[in-house]
Parts: sequence; C-alpha cells; structure tokens
Amino acid sequence: MKTLLMIKPDAVKKKVVGKIISMVEERGFDIKDMRMKRFTREEAERFYEVHRNRPFFEELVRFITSGPVVGLCLEGDDIVERVRKFIGATDPSKAEPCTVRALYGTDISHNAVHASDSAENAERELKFFFENC
Ligand code: CMP
Repeated sequence: MKTLLMIKPDAVKKKVVGKIISMVEERGFDIKDMRMKRFTREEAERFYEVHRNRPFFEELVRFITSGPVVGLCLEGDDIVERVRKFIGATDPSKAEPCTVRALYGTDISHNAVHASDSAENAERELKFFFENC
C-alpha cells in the first residue's frame, strides 16, 4: 500500500523540507520515490477537484501554485492512516503536539503538508508526481 505526502510551498519557503523528511525517516516510513515540482494552475485545480465548490478553492489553488512542492511516495501497511496521523489535523492550531502540522504549519491554508485521505485518492494523487509508484 502506498500514499502521497506532499510538502507544500510554505514549508519549502521556510526551508524545513529536510526537517520534515527527517521526521518521515525517524518515524520509520519507507520512502519509495521523491520529487520536487511546481504545479500548473490546471494541475492544481485537478489535484484539489473535490474542493472545487468550497469558498477557499481559489486561495488554495493560488497558494499551491505559488512555489515548488515536494512529493514523497511512501509505502507500508496501513500507510494512508499512519501518515494522516503523523501529519496531524488540517488546522495546525488543532494538530496534536509533535505532528508535522503542529511543528511547521502556520494556519489552515498554510499547513506545511498534505497527505492522501484514502487508497483511491493516493493512487490518483501519486500520478501527479510519479509515472510508476
Ligand atoms: P489539504 O490536506 O492539502 O487539503 C485541502 C486543503 O485546503 C487543506 O489541506 C487546507 O490547507 C486547505 N484549506 C483552506 N481552508 C480550509 C478550510 N476552511 N477547511 C479545510 N481546508 C482548508
């Protein structure tokens, strides 16, 4: 089983990519592949299509295309659930201590990382970064 962990432009700008990858390794997750890229507007709209009708959609697309992101393909048992727990709640102020978002997120829009929320979405989202992962 695989999932996508994406380090967002706010974390890249803060220069905490290495710290987040260290957390991933310290937690024992297996990194299968990794890539930095910048989303086009069209890709960002497709990546976040489930949020298309939400009031924050435009801000979300603008933010995610504002700079490079780093995608990590992580593999393991129950990986989707384990990585979701590892990153913490969407709103960093509500994230459990020592989670990635608690440590490096700023607010709900600039929350350092994204992780797939289901196996189906993981498969879909991984394709934005990797041909084969
Ligand atoms: P992410 O896990 O990348 O999935 C969708 C993103 O929308 C979410 O993290 C937040 O960064 C962003 N977002 C902005 N405002 C909201 C909101 N009010 N509720 C949920 N997500 C939001």
